[in-house]
Amino acid sequence: MQNSIHQEIDIETSDKTKINDVDFNNLDFGKKFIDHMFYCDYIDGAWQQPKIVPYQPMTIEPSARVLHYGQAVFEGMKAYKDDDGKAFLFRPEDNHRRINISAARLAIPEFPKDYFMEGLTTLMKMDKDWIKPGIGNSLYIRPFVFAIEPAISAAPAQAYRFMIICSPAKAYYTGKVRVLFAETYSRSANGGVGFAKAAGNYAAQFYPTSLAQKKGYQQIIWTDASSHEYLEEAGTMNIFFRINDTLVTAPISDRILDGITRKSIIQLAEDNNIKVDVRRVTVSEIKEAARNGSLKEIFGTGTAAVISPISAFEHSEEVFEIPDQDDAYATLFKKYLLNIQHNLSDDKHGWRYEI
Ligand code: COI
Repeated sequence: MQNSIHQEIDIETSDKTKINDVDFNNLDFGKKFIDHMFYCDYIDGAWQQPKIVPYQPMTIEPSARVLHYGQAVFEGMKAYKDDDGKAFLFRPEDNHRRINISAARLAIPEFPKDYFMEGLTTLMKMDKDWIKPGIGNSLYIRPFVFAIEPAISAAPAQAYRFMIICSPAKAYYTGKVRVLFAETYSRSANGGVGFAKAAGNYAAQFYPTSLAQKKGYQQIIWTDASSHEYLEEAGTMNIFFRINDTLVTAPISDRILDGITRKSIIQLAEDNNIKVDVRRVTVSEIKEAARNGSLKEIFGTGTAAVISPISAFEHSEEVFEIPDQDDAYATLFKKYLLNIQHNLSDDKHGWRYEI
């Protein structure tokens, strides 16, 4: 091991890379991690010295508040490489902004932008070989922050750890995604934390999603908690409906995540003269559109999921199959997006960020 100071970050490099132990053609999402990780602790009212160290287990006390009250938020982002070996992030400043919005809702202190960007880019440069070129390959980046103070009274912590770990990734969903429209359980409520990437938002979906999986559905499309009539998001993805040639998606609110892929798709649709209606979408409207043939597509968007076409949905024991489209918007937008991310097309909105 060797210790050095790189700019403001303390760096301890790993003696040996694990990259040769990884089969990049057979990756289970989120199970292999790059050689290094970034972390920075918040103690005595200030973020301390940021560090990059070999990826390794860490010690926190059993009384760490995150383990009792779930005070934790995270982000999902990706790095891509082009065929010339240049590596890029996609809209990273939006992830920084969003993790702080999530953090504020969970009473977690904001993480400074220069620490975030410097930590991220230094880590990427150190482990650049883990970013593989080619459409379909990416390095999934997971920034997260959680309460480490050893104290179990129900109050915001006085100490936190911010970390970045990264995992080489291929597709998150493989094959056709079938979904159940929520009728009993809810993901979020007015005034709640649905808009935040709070760890507990995901844990709360596991049980209802496991019931859906037993019925053959990979995901639930969550509806509003009071009437279960408005379609909101899938929990790991925002949702778009194509009715004839118009895309419809729910507006963001305190119940719905402000997805970076979602807003990129809205922009790309506008760039390509495809009409997007950002408005509330009802279950009855989508069922009727499926019956009369005007529902052409449903797809989910997210960093991990990219763009995932949905092939069927169930509501009130009624199953609707969505026939494949020759000119699917999901395919078109996925191509536009991946081409920008992999430096294969113009980036007129300035979304690529070269590392
Ligand atoms: C992402 O798309 O980055 C997410 O955070 C979803 C996660 C459940 C993999």
